[in-house]
Amino acid sequence: MSVTVTFTVNGQSRTVTTEPDRPLLEVLREDLHITGPKYACGEGQCGACTVLVDGKRTLSCVTPVSAVEGKSITTIEGLAQGDKLHPVQQAFLDEGAVQCGYCTPGMVLTAVALLDKTPNPTDEQITEGMNGNICRCCGYTKIHAAVRRAASRMQEASK
Ligand code: FES
Ligand code: FES
Repeated sequence: MSVTVTFTVNGQSRTVTTEPDRPLLEVLREDLHITGPKYACGEGQCGACTVLVDGKRTLSCVTPVSAVEGKSITTIEGLAQGDKLHPVQQAFLDEGAVQCGYCTPGMVLTAVALLDKTPNPTDEQITEGMNGNICRCCGYTKIHAAVRRAASRMQEASK
């Protein structure tokens, strides 16, 4: 049986009528053509499908669309403000923390959620916070450096 679900994606209200158990990832990519969140493991193990739901890191491959009724979703497409990249995006660019790029949207959104909760993380907290995101290109050193750089810049900007 289909249900109608209304939620916000990157500030825009969206309504879909679909099976309630369909993964949010599938609805975003196939119905709404928002392809920043990636499909990889499909089992909640790799972080490629990460989005923010009401600001919280959420694995969209294991989140049924019916669970986001009335919620606010942010994907990588909604992070920049016009031409200005989010500080985390800018830091990934500046550190060269992108190889094939497949993991990058999930990495960036996980880092955004991490820095929102822990604005001045230790190296251990960065490692721990990014632990659920896998990079098959093994770019972990630069990704870690990017998160550290983003944290410093965001701290500076908030002074
Ligand atoms: S595709 Fe969702 S966690 Fe891997
Ligand atoms: S940059 Fe290729 S998977 Fe991370």
